[in-house]
Amino acid sequence: MSNNMYCAHRDPDKKGKEEGVSRRDFLGLAGIATAVVSSLAAVLGLVRFTKATVHYEESHKFKIGKPEEFPVGTIKKLDDKKVFIFADNEGLFAISAICTHLGCIVYPTEWGFQCPCHGSKYNEDGKVIGGPAPRPLPWLEVSMHEDGNVIVDAGKEVKKGTKFKVA
Ligand code: FES
Repeated sequence: MSNNMYCAHRDPDKKGKEEGVSRRDFLGLAGIATAVVSSLAAVLGLVRFTKATVHYEESHKFKIGKPEEFPVGTIKKLDDKKVFIFADNEGLFAISAICTHLGCIVYPTEWGFQCPCHGSKYNEDGKVIGGPAPRPLPWLEVSMHEDGNVIVDAGKEVKKGTKFKVA
């Protein structure tokens, strides 16, 4: 170490000053840094706030196959879609399999549908005939895609008794 170099430990007067200035500088820099970070966060928040937030709703439509896959007199339960597809002389129709009480999946019985969770019962049209379910099982829109497949829209309820006539 050279003799010209300052050593705070050997000069008690300068030692106190150097440490005091250093602490002040540190606190000053910390304050400035905090202010800069806060300002940046505020600006970023404002920029984000001014941008429109768009939520794209997921489509509830799905293809269930060709009409000939649903012969008259059959009922198919599409487990993954939670829907029953019926075919009768008047056409195809879809009834939701989701219980209107708390959302359990109903199963078909000889008189309609039964919910395994709290005992709600629905007749063959989905009308509530017992249990805590507050509403009937919804009938869902059935249509035809241009490629010849039948489509169900689980997001579009239709009036009970609405059937899709297969040409
Ligand atoms: S969820 Fe069906 S009766 Fe409660």
